[in-house]
Amino acid sequence: METVLTGLILIVDDIPTNLDVISEALSNAGYKVAIATSGERALQQVKRRLPDMILLDVMMPGIDGFETCQRLKADPETCNIPIIFMTAMADVDSKIKGFNLGAVDYITKPFQEQEVLARVKINLQLRFLNQNLEQQVAQKTAALQAAQLQIIQREKLSALGNLVAGVAHEISNPVGFLAGNIQPALNYIKDLLGMLDLVQQESAHFSPAIAEEIAAIDLEYIREDLPKLITSMSEGVKRIKDISNSLRIYARVDSSRATTFNIHDGIDTTIMILKHRLKASGSRPEIQIIKEYGDISSIECFPGQLNQVFMNILANAIDAVEESNHERSFTEIKINPNQIKIKTELSQDMQQVIIHIKDNGVGMEKSVKSHIFDHLFTTKALGKGTGLGLAIASQIIIEKHGGTIEVDSVLGEGTEFIITLPIKAE
Ligand SMILES: Nc1ncnc2c1ncn2[C@@H]1O[C@H](COP(=O)(O)OP(=O)(O)O)[C@@H](O)[C@H]1O
Ligand SMILES: [Mg+2]
Repeated sequence: METVLTGLILIVDDIPTNLDVISEALSNAGYKVAIATSGERALQQVKRRLPDMILLDVMMPGIDGFETCQRLKADPETCNIPIIFMTAMADVDSKIKGFNLGAVDYITKPFQEQEVLARVKINLQLRFLNQNLEQQVAQKTAALQAAQLQIIQREKLSALGNLVAGVAHEISNPVGFLAGNIQPALNYIKDLLGMLDLVQQESAHFSPAIAEEIAAIDLEYIREDLPKLITSMSEGVKRIKDISNSLRIYARVDSSRATTFNIHDGIDTTIMILKHRLKASGSRPEIQIIKEYGDISSIECFPGQLNQVFMNILANAIDAVEESNHERSFTEIKINPNQIKIKTELSQDMQQVIIHIKDNGVGMEKSVKSHIFDHLFTTKALGKGTGLGLAIASQIIIEKHGGTIEVDSVLGEGTEFIITLPIKAE
């Protein structure tokens, strides 16, 4: 491999002729050269610009070569620079001591130009190969960690999805009994009350015991309240049924093949699940959801995963809107209420659906916007953000569905995510 490596080489020697000889030889060979006339100067110079290699004289006034070497090795910034000692031919002790201090090689004085060049070249090559390798390992490690995180996250979600789907399924039977029996129960009650009316009409005088009991239980009140009570129970049951339905739709466990799915159902169920964060509570103002759904029938997709995308984006929008409320007064919020607008439409060529999710939250700076799809990028407090939401969302949209996801944001005004999805899976 004949690559010419022109790194910066720092030569440290107190004798000017030595510096001249070596620097000329190295310059002629195409290397960039810097010089220092003492150990102290070398240490300062290294701080200003890191060389790729240091040729270091052993015997110098002030701190000698060994001491200089030790200090370079003790500093994490300079410890990896390869050091070659320049020693006298016969000085075996110095050579050994140099190696022990971490030098990679030595060259002997008087200098043999070809030998100096050969040693410099091979050690620089090793240095660059090493750096390259380290960089590759770092990149691979980062990629591996990212992949691992994603797998863990997926695994968790899929376990959670299974759990939720299971619970929703288990609830649906008992809820079914309740829902199915409430109306007949109400009918029976009406019958019984009617019957009671009749009895009261027919027998003008009850025995004192019965009259007492009627007063004690406040029959008039029961008669009035019982049907209302049953009606409110029936509403409660209906709500449980809706939630359980939503959970089932939301937590759909995807097969490996795309299926047809109405994305509006997905968005609606996600909103239903996030409802507790949208309602006003205490001093927290309400967040309005404004839907503008286009005329779109089902698309071919992985519903469970798309629901996750809607969840991640809507949860972020809620976070952003809540954050903006910290800076807004009550009247400001009243005039310009918290809003998340969701609009869907067909593309011109009718091949794609376009989903806009727009909030009037804090918005983002350019520097944030350019990183939001990065793995582990978050501006949220520890424990609040994971920095995975949008990384996963973009992976699902782009890689899994062949769609696109874009963001538009103005700091202080809000953010809009625009997703396109092909109607037919590839
Ligand atoms: N609607 C939004 N408005 C403002 N900033 C947002 C919005 N959505 C995402 N962001 C920014 O993108 C970052 C990454 O989002 P995400 O990947 O979901 O991770 P997390 O929500 O855990 O921080 C957030 O920390 C936030 O800074
Ligand atoms: Mg998020």
